Amino acid sequence: MLDRPAMPSRFYVTTPIYYVNDVPHLGHAYTTVAADALRRYHLLRGHEARMLTGTDEHGLKIERAAAEAGKTPQAFVDDVSARFREAWPILSAIPDDFIRTTEPRHEARVQELWRRVAANGDLYKGSYEDWYCVGCESFKTEKELLPGNICALHLKPVEKVQEETYFFRLAKFEQRLLALYRDRPDFIQPESRRNEVVSFVEGGLKDLSVSRTSFRWGVPVPDDPAHVMYVWFDALANYWTALGGDTDPLQRFWPGKGKDARAVHLVGKDILRFHAVYWPAFLLAAGFTEDELPSQVFAHGFLTIDGQKMSKALRNGVDPLRLARELGPDAVRYQLLRAIAFGQDGDFDHKELFARYHADLANTLGNLLQRTLGLTTKLTAGKPPRLAHDALDTALLSDEVRELEQLAAQRWDNLEIHRALESTWAIAALANQYVDHAAPWAAAKRGDTARVEVILATLLEVLGRLSVMVSPVLPNKSEEMRAQLGLAPLLPAIGQDLWPTAGKGHRGEALQTAKPLFPTFDKDAERAMLERLVPKPEPATTATATTAIAPSAAIATAAAPPRADGAPSSITYEQFIAVELRVGVVRECERVPKKDKLLRLRVDLGEQELRVIVAGLAQTFTPEALVDRRVVVVANLAPRDFGKGLVSHGMLLATGPSDALALASAPDGVAPGSRLK
Ligand code: MSP
Repeated sequence: MLDRPAMPSRFYVTTPIYYVNDVPHLGHAYTTVAADALRRYHLLRGHEARMLTGTDEHGLKIERAAAEAGKTPQAFVDDVSARFREAWPILSAIPDDFIRTTEPRHEARVQELWRRVAANGDLYKGSYEDWYCVGCESFKTEKELLPGNICALHLKPVEKVQEETYFFRLAKFEQRLLALYRDRPDFIQPESRRNEVVSFVEGGLKDLSVSRTSFRWGVPVPDDPAHVMYVWFDALANYWTALGGDTDPLQRFWPGKGKDARAVHLVGKDILRFHAVYWPAFLLAAGFTEDELPSQVFAHGFLTIDGQKMSKALRNGVDPLRLARELGPDAVRYQLLRAIAFGQDGDFDHKELFARYHADLANTLGNLLQRTLGLTTKLTAGKPPRLAHDALDTALLSDEVRELEQLAAQRWDNLEIHRALESTWAIAALANQYVDHAAPWAAAKRGDTARVEVILATLLEVLGRLSVMVSPVLPNKSEEMRAQLGLAPLLPAIGQDLWPTAGKGHRGEALQTAKPLFPTFDKDAERAMLERLVPKPEPATTATATTAIAPSAAIATAAAPPRADGAPSSITYEQFIAVELRVGVVRECERVPKKDKLLRLRVDLGEQELRVIVAGLAQTFTPEALVDRRVVVVANLAPRDFGKGLVSHGMLLATGPSDALALASAPDGVAPGSRLK
């Protein structure tokens, strides 16, 4: 049936290390929760499992973010890194290690990796002149850029870099990489992503600049301290540096010939190329053999929130940690891993989150537990019937259920997480149907105690098995289930496979009173929660700067003594920099029906989509007069809802009376999205 080769007994799973120019968001939470669920699954199977996450703290992007925040790079990275470290347990994601690229243990080992590559002759000094995108921390060829030298991913202008650099002989590894992809089709997954990488490498590789001299915030190049390492050389190495030196026992997690280890890098699709091309090439250059490369690089898709691209400026108001505090970590984990096909793009939709919470968690799983415990209390006075495994009802404990159990495991092994959950919940659905068909209450009414016992014992057995199968995704609720079922907490041990199999005894001793596993809530509570989770725009003043430039209350309260008009007499640099002023170009403009003061503009801020801004400009300007005008936009103002679907996502700066307004502007050469500061 589903026989397959045994999985290696050591499993090492990594997330990307997150840039500290941002705080933890749902995209980061997604990979981290997936890695944690895989870690937990492998522990259940008796494997030695290890999960690594951490923060990527060097590079120009971070150096600039620190300057913007008015902090030294070290103080800045210390603060933000701590936020990541503290975030994951709130989602019940418990990494075994958290690496920071500014730690001495990392810096020393990454220098060691550099030395090995250099000793093999794969680094040489030259001079570089090309475009660089600080957002990607990556060099760009002209053909990768949009007109006007704009990065196609960040939609921001790239910078010309000209400096002395060390080159890495990437081109030399072209054929070895292609052979690797051919001989190990699993190395890059999913398949469609693998094909993209293969075509990219087949298109020809150029040597890669791997050091910089124009800034200092990086790991110094050994024996040449004028250079710091390219941030991706530094960052990718974390997966290896975190396992310590060559003789460190943790090295048992790193794959090698005859070694019983599987190492999987989970990454977003945007950073696959770095992991599937550069990283194996760096390792090969450092003397690793093909057998000593990671087992797999798995690229997941991108999340949108309620159908909208996640935008850093607005963050769509969604904070994964607040979500976990409201609904519990397990519900958030379940939605992330079940609603979004692992490997594809997907939407995190709040309405669907609530619908799935009720359908899958409360009604299917929770209800099965409650009904079974309720019936046991009622029909057998709460004493779980003790029957041998072969006396249980094969109408439920059928081949179908056994196959679903194995299929779920196979899907976990293959990183088809959403499908593993599908198989698991299919068992819960079958069990619910079984309760209806078997109707233990009817058997009790007939006085058929033996039948009642068979039915209840069978249901308790299936619930016990389900408590194991759901535990990678619902670690807390699995424990609650087990406590209610009178089962001991799950204690994974190396070499002991806890995945359900027949006859393992999944029935507890003393049952507890049933308590709803996932308490339900009505539409009003849902609306209230939605309001807390996706905050409504703050009440704004008018849409032009003449009044609205007085910034948010938070800024005003922290400032120096107020002036007579209530505004602070001075603000700090941090307070100023919190207001994102950006250059925009008006691309479209129209009147707003029945609102004679308002115009609806679509403004190019260098983002993927034009920003809709509603402004009180109609008494001064016709819509035509504004198209192509350069404007200054407050880009991070909370959205303002004018009702009837009219929402403004920013504000233009202007001065003067409402029928003679003058718009703040910017010189022609400045790219849309450029920040004023
Ligand atoms: N620091 C690098 C990774 C170095 S790994 C050696 C980096 N950091 S990041 O913080 O910008 O991104 C980390 C991860 O978040 C990436 O895998 C990226 O794909 C992921 N996501 C960012 N936005 C996302 C979504 N909207 N949806 C899903 N994942 C997203 O890149």
